[in-house]
Amino acid sequence: MENEARTHVLIVPYPGQGHINPMHQFAKRIVSKGIKATLVVTKFISKSMHAETGKIGVEMISDGYDDGGFTAAVSVDAYLSRFTTVGSETLTEVIKKQQSSGYPVSCVIYDTFIPWALDVAHGFGIQAGAFFTQSCAVNNIYYQFHEGHLDTPESYAAADPTLPISIPGLPPLRPKDLPSFFYAPGYYGAYFKMLLNQYSNLKEADWIFVNTYKELEVEVVEYMAKDSPLRTIGPTLPSMYLDKRIPDDTDYKLNIYKPDSSLCMNWLNEKPNNSVVFVSFGSLAELGVEQMEELAYGLKQSNCYFLWVVRATTEEKLPSKFKEEVSEKGLIVRWSPQLEVLAHPALGCFVTHCGWNSTIEALSLGVPMVAMPQWTDQTTNAKFVQDVWGTGVRVSVDENGIVKREEIEHCIKQVLEGERSVEIRKNAIKWRNLAKEALGEGGSSEKNFDEFISKLTPTPE
Ligand code: UDX
Repeated sequence: MENEARTHVLIVPYPGQGHINPMHQFAKRIVSKGIKATLVVTKFISKSMHAETGKIGVEMISDGYDDGGFTAAVSVDAYLSRFTTVGSETLTEVIKKQQSSGYPVSCVIYDTFIPWALDVAHGFGIQAGAFFTQSCAVNNIYYQFHEGHLDTPESYAAADPTLPISIPGLPPLRPKDLPSFFYAPGYYGAYFKMLLNQYSNLKEADWIFVNTYKELEVEVVEYMAKDSPLRTIGPTLPSMYLDKRIPDDTDYKLNIYKPDSSLCMNWLNEKPNNSVVFVSFGSLAELGVEQMEELAYGLKQSNCYFLWVVRATTEEKLPSKFKEEVSEKGLIVRWSPQLEVLAHPALGCFVTHCGWNSTIEALSLGVPMVAMPQWTDQTTNAKFVQDVWGTGVRVSVDENGIVKREEIEHCIKQVLEGERSVEIRKNAIKWRNLAKEALGEGGSSEKNFDEFISKLTPTPE
């Protein structure tokens, strides 16, 4: 027992909400096994968090932009390059401090967006586990490109849009089913480089974890796990939704934005079951003014109740007087307790950008989706939502890349009441049950997690 208490895992997410959430949940699961876990966040992020730390320790590193974070950098390239240097130095300091405490670090679990953390851990002779926050399908696509098995983004951008692309472990994809970097060449250069860089030292990782469950992506998981220590450990949802075995006293939230929780939940409590459309585009995506207007009037025309998360930075793009126009049917908030909202019986469907966390949260809670991808991995996730998992419909865009209000209204109706809605709901329940099984006793993700814990914990004499 003494040995067990001395085992200590550092968890180092990339400083973004979509990365902190799943890795925080992973830390909680470690703590629930009686093992010490410390979450390492950047100084800038720590300032905006509304967190109680519970049993999980928190340590700080620097990305080199303590006062402004990512937005203070002149470019994505500049941010990532400074983060690599300053992040490595400050993570080294954090580990040194722990090594001279009563709890030396036994293992560093690092976000694959910051592969330099592996080098820091190995520099101390400490085990390093890679943690992928995106789907296995998406990871495989980047991996295939990294290994030279896919064409250039320029060729996919110019290709016939119906061109079938064949990738091991995946169904045939069209160019626009690939992550957006493959058909918007040049524009997202630094991000694309970062995603490819995930594989720069991956072969040296002692563990590779993916926030997915095997049943959801069985072929690609088996393909990728063939020659690597890749393990599925998802979905990393908090205990209160899926896994009652984790004590609640470690259940806390690390939100960059403060959610309007009671406003949302009180409003939902008054709505009939399966009647509300929840609309959220995650923490990063920014819709343009025209798209905001089309979405606003698409929601209004659907005549459904809707709860729409419009972050403070986007609020000015709402059509003027829209809030007043729809006050009977719609509630617009700056940030929501998304998991609580998705788990609420009033929820009918989720209009989502298909960030991986939002997608896997909706799948695990059995919520049908209208997939409205914006960029990065979201396009691939949307393809799977509609064509592989059958839990939603993907919107069509017009020749200017805009989703028109009629299309939004049509997709919401298809998911809520159209011919396909019965099948969609049935599939949503199927994936929800499989998520629970994966995390339940003897389930695929639970077994992988237990294997990690057992190898981590020194065997008592
Ligand atoms: C980004 C990318 O978009 C995503 O594709 C990638 O896989 C991770 O980084 P983000 O855009 O923020 O993430 O989307 P998403 O992955 O869905 O993560 C958002 C998180 O914030 C989710 O866990 C969601 O539950 C939470 N959230 C969102 C809230 O708690 N409240 C909200 O109102 C909106």
